[in-house]
Amino acid sequence: MDARVIRLEPHPAQRGDAWWAAPLLTAIALVAFVAYAVWAALQNGNYYAAPYLSPFYSPCVAARCTHVSVPLVGAWWTLSPALLVLWVPGGFRASCYYYRKAYYRSLFRSPVACAVPDAARDYRGETRFPLVLQNVHRYFFYLTLPVLAFLWWDALRAFRFADGWGLGLGTLVLCANAALLTLYCLSCNSCRHACGGHLDSFHGAPIRSRAWKIVSRLNEKHREFGWVSLASVVLADFYVRLLSVGLLNDPRLF
Ligand code: FES
Repeated sequence: MDARVIRLEPHPAQRGDAWWAAPLLTAIALVAFVAYAVWAALQNGNYYAAPYLSPFYSPCVAARCTHVSVPLVGAWWTLSPALLVLWVPGGFRASCYYYRKAYYRSLFRSPVACAVPDAARDYRGETRFPLVLQNVHRYFFYLTLPVLAFLWWDALRAFRFADGWGLGLGTLVLCANAALLTLYCLSCNSCRHACGGHLDSFHGAPIRSRAWKIVSRLNEKHREFGWVSLASVVLADFYVRLLSVGLLNDPRLF
């Protein structure tokens, strides 16, 4: 063997620490979320407990919705209305730069960790189909903005009860969920790019410069916003479900 050849292929023995713990926990969390989201989306019921609408079904665009946000689809749609909207936030999360790293490491094991061999020998990154399609992320960002606007609309409507304006625990749950999802969206790399990341210079663009700086600060916490908002959307849906089936009473704070 030529003495000048350096063998770069790592061996598991080079990592004596519990490198597998983070990918394992990530895999468990992601699989649990996807399983819950699919289950909730296919229920086609118990997603509305006045005045609260589950975020998994918002905006409810089918005429048959228990609570119609905007009737874009006629009564011919008999499947779950969540299927009409969930592909937008789902695609946004699935193509998120952070989540890509998370599930490439934890589910595909490619690349899994430093000094640990990949599951596949020929790592090709995102240079070929189908992973090259991850470039659609920026478009999912724009598609998500109207969905986010509807979530804020739902949060505002959560103050409106049958007996007038008020504040329930569900109001706080929906407001917190909308706020966390907003932080997740604003901290997105595509948002940062849209604000000014594509410019060569901020000369003469003070508003873009300010916006870019704010979004850049948020971007540093994108991973955290991603996980907290993932949990909040599940909790908000679960809370509305418990109210809807009568297993819980919504405490009115005033
Ligand atoms: S949502 Fe994560 S990078 Fe855009």
